[in-house]
Amino acid sequence: MSDRKKRVLTGSRPSGSPHLGNYFGAYKPLIELQDKYDFFFFLADLHTLNADFGPAEMRQQSYDMIATLLAAGLDPTRGLVYAQSAVPEVCELAWILSCQAPYGMLTRAHAFKDAQAKGLDVNMGVFNYPVLMAADILLYDADVVPVGQDQKQHLEMARDFAQRFNNRYGELFILPEPLISEDVAVVPGLDGEKMSKSKNNVISIFATDKEWKKQVMAIVTGSASLEESKDPDTCNVFALYQLLATKDETAAMAAKYRAGGYGYGHAKLELLEKIKQTFGPMRDRYDELTRRPDDLRDIILQGSKTARRLASEKLEKVQQAVGVIGRPF
Ligand code: TRP
Repeated sequence: MSDRKKRVLTGSRPSGSPHLGNYFGAYKPLIELQDKYDFFFFLADLHTLNADFGPAEMRQQSYDMIATLLAAGLDPTRGLVYAQSAVPEVCELAWILSCQAPYGMLTRAHAFKDAQAKGLDVNMGVFNYPVLMAADILLYDADVVPVGQDQKQHLEMARDFAQRFNNRYGELFILPEPLISEDVAVVPGLDGEKMSKSKNNVISIFATDKEWKKQVMAIVTGSASLEESKDPDTCNVFALYQLLATKDETAAMAAKYRAGGYGYGHAKLELLEKIKQTFGPMRDRYDELTRRPDDLRDIILQGSKTARRLASEKLEKVQQAVGVIGRPF
């Protein structure tokens, strides 16, 4: 038991048009976890329903997200990959947990408070988000959950609900630990601000060579002339190159910056080459996968079958613990 590999679980809401910020900040660190842990990944499609998507967009973005992660290296033979919506037990557990979740605590959730502060018409999906998320985690006995700053509070709530449940009904749930990744890269966008779709400053992961060129040429640089020596450490082009290149290549570029006679245009071309090298094969895999949506669906439904078996075993224990009649499993 003690040498059981720890189980890591995480979900992503489907979102389209991935960029380098998503890749280095989220997908790459996520995929690297496959090697170290008993790895569970799911598409958090039910969570996404609280937002204003139409069904066509929902469907499209769900398949895109899976194709993106598979292209980037997610491997369903090394971990469990499934869809939240394919396991209805998660909603049943969410109900049971909601009966342990203090209303006052949910009113203090950041996402809910932000939505309210903006005067948005808040639906119960927004309000209950943390409860469904706790169910995602507790249903599968996850030991660790990778969390960014924005998800910390949600994880604390999951631990809180688990604790309340355990106190009342017996130790059924593992209290999940946060996994805070230390050196997750902050990726600068074309303008040097953090790369983000809403700021319109992205380099896409899946673009044509022509689109990549256009994006790279639009990176904002200093105005030093070709001859002048330049400081690599304050340059966006260099910062992006660093993420993609080896240590030696990075050092070589830094030396050229400092020596002078090397322009921003030269650096941009080197960066463009690196982007093509790194993301070209990934883009081709992605194109291949999105051409076969039925196969994508099969992959995710296959994983979901296993997820569902685990989920119903757990839910049965929960139903017994709380004393409801439950259903025959
Ligand atoms: N809330 C997470 C996000 O917005 C997605 C998510 C849903 C999740 N359920 C989860 C993450 C369970 C980890 C564990 O990014």
